[in-house]
Amino acid sequence: MGEKLAILGGSKAKTTPNIPMYPGGLEIGDAEKKQVLEVLDNKYLFRYYGPKDVESKVKKLETEFKEKMGAKYALATSNCTGALISALIACGIAPGDEVVVTGYTFFASCAAIVAANAIPVIAEVDETLTIDPDDIEKKITPATTALMIVHMRGVPCDMDRIMAIAKKHKLRVIEDVAQACGGSYKGKMLGTFGDVGCFSFQYHKVITAGEGGMLITNDERLYDRCMGYHDTAACWRPDRFAEQRYDGELFCGSNFRMSELTGAVMLAQLGKLDTLVSRMRQNQKRIADQIKNTRGIKIRPVYDPDGDIAICLMFFLDSKDKVQSFVEALQAEGVAVSGVFNSGIPDWHIYAHWKHVINKLAPSPIKWPWENPFHKGEEVRYAADMCPKTLDYLERVIHLDIPPQMTDEDCDMIARGINKVAEALL
Ligand SMILES: Cc1ncc(COP(=O)(O)O)c(C=O)c1O
Repeated sequence: MGEKLAILGGSKAKTTPNIPMYPGGLEIGDAEKKQVLEVLDNKYLFRYYGPKDVESKVKKLETEFKEKMGAKYALATSNCTGALISALIACGIAPGDEVVVTGYTFFASCAAIVAANAIPVIAEVDETLTIDPDDIEKKITPATTALMIVHMRGVPCDMDRIMAIAKKHKLRVIEDVAQACGGSYKGKMLGTFGDVGCFSFQYHKVITAGEGGMLITNDERLYDRCMGYHDTAACWRPDRFAEQRYDGELFCGSNFRMSELTGAVMLAQLGKLDTLVSRMRQNQKRIADQIKNTRGIKIRPVYDPDGDIAICLMFFLDSKDKVQSFVEALQAEGVAVSGVFNSGIPDWHIYAHWKHVINKLAPSPIKWPWENPFHKGEEVRYAADMCPKTLDYLERVIHLDIPPQMTDEDCDMIARGINKVAEALL
């Protein structure tokens, strides 16, 4: 006979307050203030020029970021969505091309494909909740030119297989690393496998300036073209080109530039990345070690567990019917867990809720990019139930944030709560 559940009037397993999941955001302090004040004192708010000749924070951030990631080039952007669009455009993804994207990602990965005039093709995830390489192969058609792969909820995709598929079919690979900054696969940093890796510094991310993004690449031409697209005036910038040096260097761009204020905050935050990731890993391991043999629970497998940045712990129950009662009982224990897929509650990370894609909605009478004379092959069709494996995994999975600020005591109480509820309900 187990302990009485809190939901039935028993005492709570976790009595400490829950810490919100803003890993870098909660660490904002003197280092960020110092950097920002330097920008204000110098009145140097724009990366390319100002009243004094001082070093640009954005440029310094790019240098430190590329060194940390082991990439040749880094370009700071206003956000990750802008980085993804710039990457697709720089890769030469053309109107009517198909780009395969995972069915479990924040909607921005898919929206970026549409913004770059290409047609998203949605693929299944496997049990790691990252894109299923077997399904990528099934979704490739003669119109496919790129893969948008997402290291979802902190963990690496199967990069060996993905890169082999890309090579075989001559596809570009854009890595969306928005949720996995600092992660790796077999010792190599995420974002350095594909043609371009894109990062987000939005407030919910590991390191943050509220908004912000970065892209990295080892290809000089892709860097030039991303640079040109992310800044519509790039060709007039100091140290940049005036006339194009090769065909395809100069074309009309947009504006996804990063501000010096953002660059300043991010310089301080980048210095905290390793500590944040190591604290999250420690916390995640402490909880996982205590629940890994619990009956009825299966922790999400990971292609390279050493590369997981451990922003969360996700585990499966064997039936979707148990998820709601399990979540409610654990929440009553004081543990802030959630389910992931519920058809009634739109979560923008799941393709089944992407109504504008499923219904091919567009702001003009032409349903661009779906109605597209350049699209070769069969019409791309969508349906809310088109990826049944993805829905099955997401309906059965429980999500637990792992704030780096949690103490060992917090972790032990969480594990105790999970085991208590599992013993009673599974
Ligand atoms: C997987 C993924 N891709 C892209 C984005 C978009 O990032 P941003 O808000 O910086 O444009 C996010 C942000 O939540 C994300 O989680």
